[in-house]
Amino acid sequence: MHVLLVAGARPNFMKVAPIASALARSGIAHSLVHTGQHYDPQMSDAFFADLGLREPDFHLGVGSGTHADQTARVMQAFEPVLVHVRPDWLVVVGDVNSTLACALVAVKLKEALGVRIAHVEAGLRSHDWRMPEEINRVLTDRLSDLLLVPSRDAFANLAAEGLPGERAVFAGNVMIDALFAQLPLARAADMPGRLGLARDGYAVATVHRPSNVDDPDTLATLLHAFGNLARGVPVVLPLHPRTRRNITQFGLDALLAPLIVLDPLGYRDMLSLTDGARAVFTDSGGLQEETSALGVPCVTLREQTERPVTLLEGTNQLAPWPLERHSLVRCLREALGRPRYQPGERVPEGWDGRAAIRVVEALQTHVAAPAVPQRVRAFA
Ligand code: UD1
Repeated sequence: MHVLLVAGARPNFMKVAPIASALARSGIAHSLVHTGQHYDPQMSDAFFADLGLREPDFHLGVGSGTHADQTARVMQAFEPVLVHVRPDWLVVVGDVNSTLACALVAVKLKEALGVRIAHVEAGLRSHDWRMPEEINRVLTDRLSDLLLVPSRDAFANLAAEGLPGERAVFAGNVMIDALFAQLPLARAADMPGRLGLARDGYAVATVHRPSNVDDPDTLATLLHAFGNLARGVPVVLPLHPRTRRNITQFGLDALLAPLIVLDPLGYRDMLSLTDGARAVFTDSGGLQEETSALGVPCVTLREQTERPVTLLEGTNQLAPWPLERHSLVRCLREALGRPRYQPGERVPEGWDGRAAIRVVEALQTHVAAPAVPQRVRAFA
């Protein structure tokens, strides 16, 4: 059995790393593709180094672009790699453009190459079709033979779209495998100490979603709220390149003055910072899960989440919507007063550091199973 693993953007690397090492431990041949969707050293190389990910076997170097441009370039560059490797499994993770692009290439070559597609983190839904990630999730699941779900609520989402239950397997959350493996090293890295901050004595904020940072008023509301909070507690803001560019373009640089602004952080430093925070305010998908695993209160700066399990069984809550400065500040203040838990104390089932093992077992079990029939049932 040969497995071809794809990573493209920052939130992919911590999902691929535990799967690559579980495959290596099981003696299963595998290759790694980096599409190059993210390419800045701090958005990519730093993660490979921290996570112990080996050099990719194939680097596609696609870079940034419009959605169509980026997706198309991944597809064009990935097709010859897939034909060359002829894997038994293509494993794609998460919901970024690279995820969908590679799955789409593989499904068209299924007959010719005999490849099957496994989607890790299948079945998550925000039910917000304006999010590019939601489109990527729905379509990638539709194309995949094996749907590896991170939490049990995902089964109902897949069933509601008419996807047959026998294709879906509970795996748990591979990203939490990486988190528990790296936590001792992250704590030793002492990112808060390096910033002169005390454990539990600061908040962390991150924003990068187009819906939050591409609109000047929304971005200003968020920065005003963080600034307001910073009067009482230091607020650290690692800035995604898109956010930094927009702040300057919209003339909002002055709103950064009360905040501790950082460049994007590598995996270990970010984990160290998150672990030590009194609360995290974010629009990231991964941080909603990581804060739950670490026991740190989190406010998600979005109208809804595709990870509702973090609201029910984790430490997450949604910001009051629509975003408005005063109610937002009140909500963030309250979060700073919420209790924190010990790492692993309040986590959903399967967020236990063993998800990648279950992924590999599922790949082994299903490699002999019949592929998805070419004549598929219509959606219910
Ligand atoms: C992508 C994912 C998003 C994920 C996020 C994490 C999609 C549709 N979105 O969004 O789900 O939460 O990654 O970061 O795939 N840029 C750089 N350096 C880089 C990468 C990007 O400067 O290494 C800048 C470029 O100006 C680029 C912009 O960031 O145009 C956006 O990058 P892109 O990969 O298109 O999407 P993200 O916003 O990062």
